[in-house]
Amino acid sequence: MTKHTMPEKHDLLSRNRSHISQAPHRRGSIDPSKLLPMDKTAHIGGHDNFNVLFIGAGNIMFGSPEGPWNHSFRLEHKLGPRLKVVALIDPSTERAKEVLAKKRDSFVVSAYQDTRVCSNLEEFVKTMTPNELPRAVIIGSPPMFRGTLQPNRDIEAQLLKQFPGVALFVEKPIATGSLSEIEQTYKVGKMIDNSKTICSVGYMLRYLKAVQMMKKIIHDNQLTVMCTIARYACAYEAIAKPDWWDKSKSYGPVIEQGTHFCDLSRYFGGEVDLSSVVAHSIEWNEAPGKLSKMSIDESKIPPERRIPRATTATWKYQNGAVGNFTHVVALQGNNYSCELEVYADGYSLKLVNPYVQPVLYIRQPGDDNETKMAFPDDDPFFSEISVFIDNIEAKDNADFEDLHILSSYEDAARSYELTWAIRNASEKNDTKSKAV
Ligand SMILES: NC(=O)c1ccc[n+]([C@@H]2O[C@H](COP(=O)([O-])OP(=O)(O)OC[C@H]3O[C@@H](n4cnc5c(N)ncnc54)[C@H](O)[C@@H]3O)[C@@H](O)[C@H]2O)c1
Repeated sequence: MTKHTMPEKHDLLSRNRSHISQAPHRRGSIDPSKLLPMDKTAHIGGHDNFNVLFIGAGNIMFGSPEGPWNHSFRLEHKLGPRLKVVALIDPSTERAKEVLAKKRDSFVVSAYQDTRVCSNLEEFVKTMTPNELPRAVIIGSPPMFRGTLQPNRDIEAQLLKQFPGVALFVEKPIATGSLSEIEQTYKVGKMIDNSKTICSVGYMLRYLKAVQMMKKIIHDNQLTVMCTIARYACAYEAIAKPDWWDKSKSYGPVIEQGTHFCDLSRYFGGEVDLSSVVAHSIEWNEAPGKLSKMSIDESKIPPERRIPRATTATWKYQNGAVGNFTHVVALQGNNYSCELEVYADGYSLKLVNPYVQPVLYIRQPGDDNETKMAFPDDDPFFSEISVFIDNIEAKDNADFEDLHILSSYEDAARSYELTWAIRNASEKNDTKSKAV
């Protein structure tokens, strides 16, 4: 007798196709069959305006050639004609006006025709009419301006004060700054929790159907994860933002980007014993770290602020399982190469290519071969926005089905702390780098 239930290959596959969930409601996960792509869903019902406040007029909010992110686009589809963007807050008011002009010149004009551009929250609050009260705020400003309790870096606390009860969507990483400030970040999390504010953090990979299928297999077979192996290799040639290459601005590629896979590792492995983290990096000035196709001029960045080219880390989870993470700045072209392997007794679950065409390779007891499951046309950016909006609607409508928000602020703070632990450990072991 084995403690596992052993689904046949076709069981796994047919469960995936089924739109009827047999699984009990599980906290922190969603039945994968309920994650539908944007073009397979109608916009949410109702007729009243759904006011949204945007903070930041940059790439995450309005899209960029570097990737599929674009929150405004997903909100337009989720809310349809109900969407009213009441204001766009950005100190770079020119950039804000430019993106608004494009929206007003398109078929989604009704969401943006009355959008006001404000250079900060205070300006919006002072001039806001009762009709403009937001139901949700999307925070896509750079992380250095949020996640603390210090003036001008405390947007969450300001929003909780000005708009109590109004839902917050916060981009990852939830903060950047020195590690000594992390206590403030946890306090922000407590304030959000204590006020019972709906809050979702933009770790969208948790909303991949493939990731939820992995959760379902683990849950259905009552598995205990033994080991996570995460590899995140970005296509550096396509990264044209100078700040990304500057540790004093981005805080480095593990904190800024690898955070997605550190977060996924925690999602499967649980809490990390931070004192166990060991890490090494290749710095920009070491022979293996030479890059021939950077699209920025790195000579403009002071040497001590240049980013490492590869960072590799291992750790113990608090339950004794082990984790392994590598971030590499090595690939050219556009597509990233990212994989996450999760092992448990008898099982390996390997997620491949989550950003482009997610594929899951499953090995299970009774078969030495892997079963391949593809998840074409999945859109985790839409799913995270969709679940966020559904939770807001559900608050006011008991009949409305709400799926779980998969990344809370407090949980995201732990992922942020893990990425700092990796950076610190790599810099401690590497005499050529300095913490900036
Ligand atoms: N989940 C993802 O895959 C993903 C993808 C892209 C970006 N992001 C995250 O989104 C956040 C923003 O990144 P981006 O690429 O949009 O950056 P960006 O530089 O393109 O845009 C940021 C915008 O914020 C504005 N800004 C600066 N200070 C501000 C303040 N105090 N208040 C309001 N706006 C302010 C800037 O003027 C700029 O227009 C980052 O945390 C980033 O990591 C996440």
